[in-house]
Amino acid sequence: MEYRQIEPKPLCGAIGAEVCGVDLTQANSEVWAEIHALFRDRKALFFPGQALDPKSLAMVSENFGEIGEYPFAEGFPEEPRVFSIVKEPEETKNFGEGWHSDTTYTDCPPMATVLYSVETPPRGGDTMFANMELAYDSLSDGLKKSLAGLRAVHSAAVRKGGGRAAGNSYQSVKLVNQDKMNLEATHPLVRTHPVTGRKALYVDALHTSHIEGWTEAESAPLLEYLYTCQQRPEFTGRYRWETGVFAIWDNCAAQHMAINDYHGYRREMYRLPIAGGRPV
Ligand code: SIN
Repeated sequence: MEYRQIEPKPLCGAIGAEVCGVDLTQANSEVWAEIHALFRDRKALFFPGQALDPKSLAMVSENFGEIGEYPFAEGFPEEPRVFSIVKEPEETKNFGEGWHSDTTYTDCPPMATVLYSVETPPRGGDTMFANMELAYDSLSDGLKKSLAGLRAVHSAAVRKGGGRAAGNSYQSVKLVNQDKMNLEATHPLVRTHPVTGRKALYVDALHTSHIEGWTEAESAPLLEYLYTCQQRPEFTGRYRWETGVFAIWDNCAAQHMAINDYHGYRREMYRLPIAGGRPV
């Protein structure tokens, strides 16, 4: 597609694009049409130079769809749909470590997630992204056939990357609903994108517990193999934040992980989900 209103700069081969010089609070419908096309194509977009507070962040985000709910964090009083993720200098745990798609342990996980960088460390704290359509495409026809029809169980309590299930909480994220840590949902192991119709792998190393109807031990070798495919370097990209970046990623087609390599520095992001339907 040729872009006339925006000048996207691809992050790398597989995923992501940065768009500079656009004030998202002022963008017209022609600009939004190109942003939406780019979003489907690149799956993760980054707009530096935005000056947003929780309310204006929500307003801009609504251009991507209805804002959903994240069950485990308390939002801002003035805009409860937006919450803050903070890692203070003295903390060692971060939010979102380990490859995952967001909130897959709910029946209707968010179609997308918005992140806005408020404060960033002088080095580190990057986020990685991986293209799950490329990961699916890389499999043999035989394996694709075997995966068709399989469903995977996703659990809020499964946190292999070391999160809440390991008994740790993030001191600086206002957690709520900790009694709902048993949330669980079952989804197709290969999902079809609701807009583009493309197929993507939909299991992740953080929340997937097993394949429906299989034991965890039986599931583990296949799941581990799929995670290895998902995390192949050529399917990934990495974003280096500065303050004032509006970012959005497509949870139907991408995974992400927050790199925890900035102990001693503060990092703060505002975050909100864009509602999604039941994966098919
Ligand atoms: C997340 O939403 O998983 C966190 C991403 C980040 O803070 O980079």
